[in-house]
Amino acid sequence: MQHVYEKLGQFYLGRKVDLGSRSAGDDLVLYDSKDLTTHAVIIGMTGSGKTGLGIGLIEEALIDGVPVIAIDPKGDIPNLLLTFPDLSGERLLPWIDPREAAKEGLTPETYAAKQARIWQKGLESWHQDLDRIRRLRRSAEMLVYTPGSQAGLPVSVLRDLAPPSPEILGDADLFREQIEGTTRSLLGLVGVRGEAQQDREFVLVANILRNAWTGGRSLSLADLIRSIQKPPFEQIGVFDLESYYPAKERFELAIRLNNLLAAPGFEVWMQGEPLDVSRLLFSPSGKPRASIFTISHLSEPERMFFVSTLLNAVVSWVRAQPGTSSLRALLYMDEVFGYLPPTQNPPSKKPLLTLLKQARASGLGVVLSTQNPVDLDYKALSNTGTWFIGRLQTERDKQRVLEGLEGAAAGGQFDAGRTGQILAGLGKRVFYLHNVHEAEPVIFQTRWVMSYLSGPMTREQIRQLMQPLKQQLASQAPLRERRAPATLEASEVKEPPLPPSDVPVFFVPAVAGSSELTYWPALLGHVRVHYTSARYKVDAERELFLAFPLEDGPVPVRWDDPAVLRLSPNQLEEKGAVGARFSLLPPAARRKQSYRTWQRKLIRHVIQERPLVLLHAPAYKLTSRPDESEEAFRARLAHLVRERRDLEVEKLRTRYASKFASLRERLLRAEQAVQREQEQAAAAKVQTAVSFGTALLGAFLGRRRVTATAASRLGTALSRASRSRKQKMDVERAKQRLEELRSRLDALQQELEDKIAAVASKYDVQTVRVETVSIRPRSTGVALNLFGLGWLPYRKSPSSTWEPAF
Ligand SMILES: Nc1ncnc2c1ncn2[C@@H]1O[C@H](COP(=O)(O)OP(=O)(O)O)[C@@H](O)[C@H]1O
Ligand SMILES: [Mg+2]
Repeated sequence: MQHVYEKLGQFYLGRKVDLGSRSAGDDLVLYDSKDLTTHAVIIGMTGSGKTGLGIGLIEEALIDGVPVIAIDPKGDIPNLLLTFPDLSGERLLPWIDPREAAKEGLTPETYAAKQARIWQKGLESWHQDLDRIRRLRRSAEMLVYTPGSQAGLPVSVLRDLAPPSPEILGDADLFREQIEGTTRSLLGLVGVRGEAQQDREFVLVANILRNAWTGGRSLSLADLIRSIQKPPFEQIGVFDLESYYPAKERFELAIRLNNLLAAPGFEVWMQGEPLDVSRLLFSPSGKPRASIFTISHLSEPERMFFVSTLLNAVVSWVRAQPGTSSLRALLYMDEVFGYLPPTQNPPSKKPLLTLLKQARASGLGVVLSTQNPVDLDYKALSNTGTWFIGRLQTERDKQRVLEGLEGAAAGGQFDAGRTGQILAGLGKRVFYLHNVHEAEPVIFQTRWVMSYLSGPMTREQIRQLMQPLKQQLASQAPLRERRAPATLEASEVKEPPLPPSDVPVFFVPAVAGSSELTYWPALLGHVRVHYTSARYKVDAERELFLAFPLEDGPVPVRWDDPAVLRLSPNQLEEKGAVGARFSLLPPAARRKQSYRTWQRKLIRHVIQERPLVLLHAPAYKLTSRPDESEEAFRARLAHLVRERRDLEVEKLRTRYASKFASLRERLLRAEQAVQREQEQAAAAKVQTAVSFGTALLGAFLGRRRVTATAASRLGTALSRASRSRKQKMDVERAKQRLEELRSRLDALQQELEDKIAAVASKYDVQTVRVETVSIRPRSTGVALNLFGLGWLPYRKSPSSTWEPAF
């Protein structure tokens, strides 16, 4: 059954605490999810229940279809995967701590069974059941990434330093911030002090990044090392490079980075998915994800490097999102200590501040948790709309929080003395909630979480959790486009064979560290393709760099098997690598005439085989943008669907509001009538429960706090009413009238509920039809920029097969 708290756009956080009795009452605390777009902080000492609250928030977001990125410095957040619709001792057994069992003198089995019962009971006492856990699991996919380790899902942060989104490239300040942040965290990783603008290491690396990113190119670590030795520019400012930073000294920096590359275990940083925020938020089929990044196993500089890289990617993503007032995604950070300090300026600080300032309109809610308010940047605090304050450790922490609250109240009413008293008396899992969107603060106890809180997880446990998913994801991974030629001719020569004189020759650069290369000939074409479609409102240009292997056979060009090169034509080289060998040219490639035919065929290939493939959701008239990934499009679609859904629900509620209001008016009158008649009858006082809860009405109108017991009150009222049969006739009649109105109210509530449910299922993104659309260029839309013979480097793999070295 769906509970009253399970409402679209509302997060069920817990129950209101009565300050007098200091215990949680009946009033549920529901939080309007769009309030999170102005961000939240959770402050409280260790053990105050911050992580419990954070996990609760994440659960609520996911169950409502809002995706989450969680940064997890301590290892607690993967507990989200311990959400079992078939919660039992057996289920929990692998996740309990045997030492805890021993402490209680229990076998692990008995202890696990006991824990399962505790959890069941906890959930029940907060009006939750296993069905809700099932719903949570069904609504989202949960992934645990472990950067730099293979325990969880790998994520590659160093294979490619990818350029930020076009929106960032177009914003000079943000672009500079991203370059500086990346430079500093990279230098931090190799222990080079490159803090300040005036350090040459900093200036050089920043310039290399700017050079590549401005040109839209990713940079691998190997590329970066090469560029440090041989930068793609000759001047830095007014100085020439050599006098500013001589090659010999640059070499030392290159070595530092190279040591990183060569360090054992480093390859893990290069494997796995790239940090593509859209993919972190939605699966390819559009299912919302919780992407958890556990970093407890990393060293300090590694953590800083990873967190700031991730944050920069999020900033980049946020900038590319259109404005919205709904909550689009959640970024949760379980312990922000050291990442957003008041005075220092670590690489993570800028992007965090940018997110806190700018995320609002883009619908990203940032939730930061800390046990140490004194360590938090003041500006950041004053930018957040919601504060959850739990039990605090020291007087200094309390003072800091009070100052912050006073600032956040910004001239409004704020009673520091009283608030201080409240804060001093907060118990475990009890939080003072200040929300700028609400008239007054609320004290509440967090609801029981669905996730079994087993505490920080070991890497081995994470490995166990992620094993099935790893296999599944591996089978979904896109195939690499580069294939080695089917046959490499045995006869190799030391000098590249020459094509006819007026055919240009190019060498594709080999990746760093490749040795014993053999070059294989290919037909090279760099084209600029123009795609237009009035129907899908497309007018886009794309550059395409194709290499079609040449071989000695009836069809000398492998038209069906081109490699797509990820470089720009000016990165081609004029010679092959030193000591490399070259395969012979097939006879057709030695004839001038062949190239004329091939040029025509190449253009035909582009027209026929290289359409612009877009995704299109007809029901929403939404088409993917030319450079948008499937995930990004799905994310955009999911959000659009949510917005439409929210809008329609809002409309429904408004439409029903007046019906409810007039019915309520009549109910009140009928209640009064009953009372009057009873008094007049002066019969034995039959106490009919007339205080018909207006809160129940509120529940269906979508307001914030509702009473869970309002529904049962109705039941009592009815039974009491029926006991009063023996009363006078007019009392009877008045009561009948009352009953009738009540059942009409019930019916009306049911009707609204059904309609809302219908809207929710109509706007289910999982069922939205998405089709692919192929837009072919016209022949006039293909411009050939470069055409000629290209040499592609290959090397022998350890298993003696040939693999591309480009
Ligand atoms: N919402 C909750 N539901 C169930 N148990 C909770 C909840 N919040 C906290 N706890 C219990 O309290 C302990 C400490 O809370 P935790 O959230 O880890 O504190 P903090 O993150 O502030 O150090 C948890 O290990 C868990 O046993
Ligand atoms: Mg914690």
